[in-house]
Amino acid sequence: MNLLNGNEVSQVIRLQIKDEVSKIKSEGKKVPHLAAILVGEDGASKTYVAAKERDCQEVGFDSTVLRFDVSITETELLIEIEKINNNPEIDGLIVQLPLPKHINEKKITESISYKKDVDGFHPYNVGLMFKGLPTFLPATPYGIIKLLEHFQIETIGKHCVVIGRSDIVGKPMSALMLQKNCTVTVCHSRTIDLSKYTLDADIVIAAIGSPKFLKANMIKEGAVVIDVGITRVDDANSKKGFRLLGDVDFEDLSEKVSWITPVPGGVGPMTRVGLLLNTLEALGRK
Ligand SMILES: NC(=O)c1ccc[n+]([C@@H]2O[C@H](COP(=O)([O-])OP(=O)(O)OC[C@H]3O[C@@H](n4cnc5c(N)ncnc54)[C@H](OP(=O)(O)O)[C@@H]3O)[C@@H](O)[C@H]2O)c1
Repeated sequence: MNLLNGNEVSQVIRLQIKDEVSKIKSEGKKVPHLAAILVGEDGASKTYVAAKERDCQEVGFDSTVLRFDVSITETELLIEIEKINNNPEIDGLIVQLPLPKHINEKKITESISYKKDVDGFHPYNVGLMFKGLPTFLPATPYGIIKLLEHFQIETIGKHCVVIGRSDIVGKPMSALMLQKNCTVTVCHSRTIDLSKYTLDADIVIAAIGSPKFLKANMIKEGAVVIDVGITRVDDANSKKGFRLLGDVDFEDLSEKVSWITPVPGGVGPMTRVGLLLNTLEALGRK
């Protein structure tokens, strides 16, 4: 078993981004600037936004967090987004999800200028991605592609099974693996006899949200396994009071796989680096 170590690879890419930013600075040019909108007091959302802010600082990007009370109306939020769309100082904009129930997430996502849509959720960018044209790729699938490339995992002609069909992970992941010349199968909660597919897979990408779902008896010998899942479970023995579990039963699979991502330290840090790469890219898009 070999580890697809996302901590290690993300660090390498971060240093490359940092070098690029130093070069931009030394030429007296503007550095990338990421704005994040945070609505309400959701603990997980606050943590994610704080991490994104730290990541920006670490590589030398400018960052701004716009915090709004949970009572902000959809119209007020749309006005704020329009201000950022028109602000030439800001290159990338993300709106941390989930939003309060009275705000239509689809409407908000689509109101972000596609030129600043560093999450890659705007339908225009999704269309470009499916056509294989240059665009902002959603951060998690983008990070996974970078991880596979770093470890030179063979994809041509391989059977890749993606479990999950969400807009942010499963669907874009399947499109990107198709572009990598895999034969792709997408499974979901209505798939009948999931093991029939996973047992035939050379590469399994699990993005379900169900802790330790994928067991050794569901994969073939030598498979490459990517665990996207992150579920917080209470753990009195942990300093934080919780621990993170992936969708893969790591211990059970470890003897059978050729390559596997750990949780934490696999896909998570690569996702963060995916956003940084998009923000760097956004600088040249205006
Ligand atoms: N590491 C990271 O940086 C990162 C980034 C994003 C997400 N995540 C994690 O990845 C997981 C998935 O995220 P998501 O946003 O894609 O979740 P999601 O929107 O809830 O989608 C989950 C997908 O899994 C499918 N599914 C659920 N139960 C299944 C089962 N028993 N068998 C087969 N398929 C099943 C669902 O099928 P249906 O479509 O039929 O309902 C759905 O397509 C979560 O744990 C999330 O926290 C991690």
